[in-house]
Formats: sequence, C-alpha cells, structure tokens
Amino acid sequence: MDIEMMYQENILDHYKSPHNFGKVENATVHHHEKNPLCGDELDMFLIVEDKKIVDIKVYPTGCAISVASASMLSDEIKGKGIDEVKNMTKEQLLEMLGIPISPVRLKCALLSLDTLKNSILIFERYMGK
Ligand code: FES
Repeated sequence: MDIEMMYQENILDHYKSPHNFGKVENATVHHHEKNPLCGDELDMFLIVEDKKIVDIKVYPTGCAISVASASMLSDEIKGKGIDEVKNMTKEQLLEMLGIPISPVRLKCALLSLDTLKNSILIFERYMGK
C-alpha cells in the first residue's frame, strides 16, 4: 500500500469513528462554526483548566475531510496548553491529514482549525484573565 493510500485510509477511519466525538454540557468554551460554502458544521467543546485543554469534544457534521480533520486536531491538542495550540498553523493541520488537499476542499480541511482559533479567542476574551 502506498503512503497516500495509507493516509486516505486513516482519514476514512477518523471519518467513520471520530475521536473525542460528542458534546459537553458544562464546557469552558463551546463554539460552533459553519463552512459557508456547503453548510457543514462543527461544534467544539473545550474544558480548560489553568490555561490547559484538559478535555475536548467535537461534534462534526460534514464531509470526510472535515470530520477527519476535527478528529485529528482534537487528538493533537488534548492535554496541551492554550498558548501552545493557539499558534497552530494551517500547514501543521494539512500535514496531519497527509494527502494533497485541492483548493476547493481547503475550507473543509480548515473548518476545525478555524473553530479552534475562534474558541481560543473567546476563551481569552472572556475567561482567560
Ligand atoms: Fe462541507 Fe467539506 S463539503 S465541509
């Protein structure tokens, strides 16, 4: 199996069973984003203690790329500090996905990162003092 097929299988696995899937009643931050191009959505719930993301849940409804991206990102940032994850770049996220993403699918891939960045902005504005 070549490398690209391995990444594709990995994306499909995350799509079929997204990691950290679910909702949290009393999350420190709950943020919802929508891909304006297709209407697909992602809810992200962060539990933050001492500026560290101690838990995260994601509730994506979208295509394989967007769901896999949310799932992989949730694994990546769980347990990390807000300051560490807030500078995460789109290149890092695309590297996690591991396959070439066409310009049309870029919004799908980046929905999770946009949701994370906006969640952190909300946290810092209202709760991070
Ligand atoms: Fe909607 Fe990918 S087609 S997020």
